[in-house]
Amino acid sequence: MKVLEDAFARFDRIAISFSGAEDVVLIDMASSILGKDVPVFTLDTGRLHPETYRFIETVRERYGIAVEVRFPDATAVGELVRHKGLFSFYRDGHQECCAVRKIQPLREKLAGLHAWVTGQRRDQGVTRTALPTEQVDTAFSTPERTLVKFNPLAEWTRADVWSYIHEHDVPYNPLHDQGMPSIGCQPCTRAIGPNDSERDGRWWWENADHKECGLHSQNVIPVKPVTADL
Ligand code: ADX
Ligand code: SF4
Repeated sequence: MKVLEDAFARFDRIAISFSGAEDVVLIDMASSILGKDVPVFTLDTGRLHPETYRFIETVRERYGIAVEVRFPDATAVGELVRHKGLFSFYRDGHQECCAVRKIQPLREKLAGLHAWVTGQRRDQGVTRTALPTEQVDTAFSTPERTLVKFNPLAEWTRADVWSYIHEHDVPYNPLHDQGMPSIGCQPCTRAIGPNDSERDGRWWWENADHKECGLHSQNVIPVKPVTADL
C-alpha cells in the first residue's frame, strides 16, 4: 500500500496495468486511496478468455472505475495472421505475436506516462526473483523520457495475494479456480499441476527462463540502464 501511495503522490501521469487476473489487488488498494479516479488500463490482445473479459467488466462495475481497454493495430494483426495464421506462436515462439498484440499497444500507452504500476511478484518465477518495488523501466524509457515502473506486490507471496482477496472480498477471475494461478491469453495459458510453479501454464512449450512476453523484458534481457531524472 505504501508503495502505491508514494507512487500516486509523486506522479500525475501514472497508470496501473491490469491483466484481468489476481493483480486486481492493485485496483482494490488504489481505489481505497483514489476512490473512483483509479487510472487503469488493460491490453486486449483479442485472444483473452471469455472469463477474463467478463471479469474486467465485473471490476469496472464493482469499483465504479473506467478501465481503459487498449487494442492492437488492426493492420499489424491482419498482416501477422495473413502470413503466419492464428497460432504461429506454437511453431516459432510467442514473441512475434506478443509484439503485435501486447507490446506495441503498451508502448503507445506508456508514451503518455511518466510511471506505470504492475502486479509482478518475485515469487512468480525464475525471471522475477530480483524484482524491486520501484525501478527505472529500461525497456520503455526513451532518451527524452525516463519511465518509472512500480511493482508494489514484488515482495508479496501468492498466499499474501489470496489472503488479501479473501479478507477484502475482492472479486477474482474464475479461471483461478480452474488450476490457472497465472492468466494470460487463452491459447497460451493452461492449468498447472500441484507440483508446477505458478507460471508453468504460460507458454508451456517454451523454456521457463524465457517466459516474458516483452512487457517485462528487462527481467530477462540486460538492457543498458537509463539514468533516472526524477
Ligand atoms: S506477462 O508479461 O507474463 O503477461 P503477467 O501475466 O505475469 O505478465 O502479469 C504481470 C503484470 O503485467 C500484471 O500484473 C500487469 O501489471 C501486467 N500485464 C500483463 N498482461 C497484461 C495485459 N494484458 N494488460 C495489462 N497489463 C498486463
Ligand atoms: Fe499472442 Fe499468445 Fe502473446 Fe497472447 S500470449 S499475444 S496469443 S503469443
